[in-house]
This record gives sequence, C-alpha cells and structure tokens, in this order.
Amino acid sequence: QSTTEVDLSKIEPGMAIKTSFRKQPLFVRNLTPAEIAAADAVPVSSLRDPQTLEQRTAKDHTNWLITLGVCTHLGCVPLGAGEGENRGPFGGYFCPCHGSAYDTAGRIRQGPAPKNLEVPKYNINGAIAVVG
Ligand code: FES
Repeated sequence: QSTTEVDLSKIEPGMAIKTSFRKQPLFVRNLTPAEIAAADAVPVSSLRDPQTLEQRTAKDHTNWLITLGVCTHLGCVPLGAGEGENRGPFGGYFCPCHGSAYDTAGRIRQGPAPKNLEVPKYNINGAIAVVG
C-alpha cells in the first residue's frame, strides 16, 4: 500500500488543503486555537459518532486535522478545503449534495451522513505528514 507525504509548512492556521491519498480526496487542515476550543467544547455523548478531537489527531499535534474528503453519506466531496469556502454551520466542512455538516474535528453534526470523516493512519515527522 502506498503512502502519501504532505508538506505542512505552507498550511497556515485556518487553512485547509485538498490533496489525494490512494486516489481519494484528502483534506489536511491546520486548526486555529479557536477551532480546537470549539471542538473540545462539544459534549462527546451528544455526537452521532462520538469521538474527541484528541482521538482524531496525533498526540501533541491536535491542530492537524487529516481526514478523507469523502462524505460518509454517499461519497461527495465536502466544501471547505479547496472546493469553495463554505464550511457550513459547524465551521468544519459542508457537503452540498444533501446538506451534511461537519464540525472543526470533521465530525458529523447535521444532515444524513452517519459517520465522521474518516481519519487515515498517518505520522507527523517535523513539517511532513506521512499518510498511509
Ligand atoms: Fe454528503 Fe449526501 S453525499 S450529504
């Protein structure tokens, strides 16, 4: 299975880029402190797919949110990372196909998608993320 290297050095806080991983869209986002705080403020038990931001990010790198850019409803590419700046009502990503809204941890918060955006396996080495 192939890995993908992503250069994190040019992704400023608040930015999200879209790249690809094993032929699927991959979102790499540098969360701001406010976006991290917003994710941490949500009671996990209230979530459809209960996970903390810490569970979805690497230790000591909670600002790097790395997810597939594939809506877990029917697979559209959500907006908010190189596909327009509409990040939806929860400030993460927004799927225009049927209105699924994801939060700043990439967790499903509204709409038909059943699951959070998938987090692939990855490691962060300095300014490089090695995905896969
Ligand atoms: Fe995203 Fe349906 S594919 S909401």
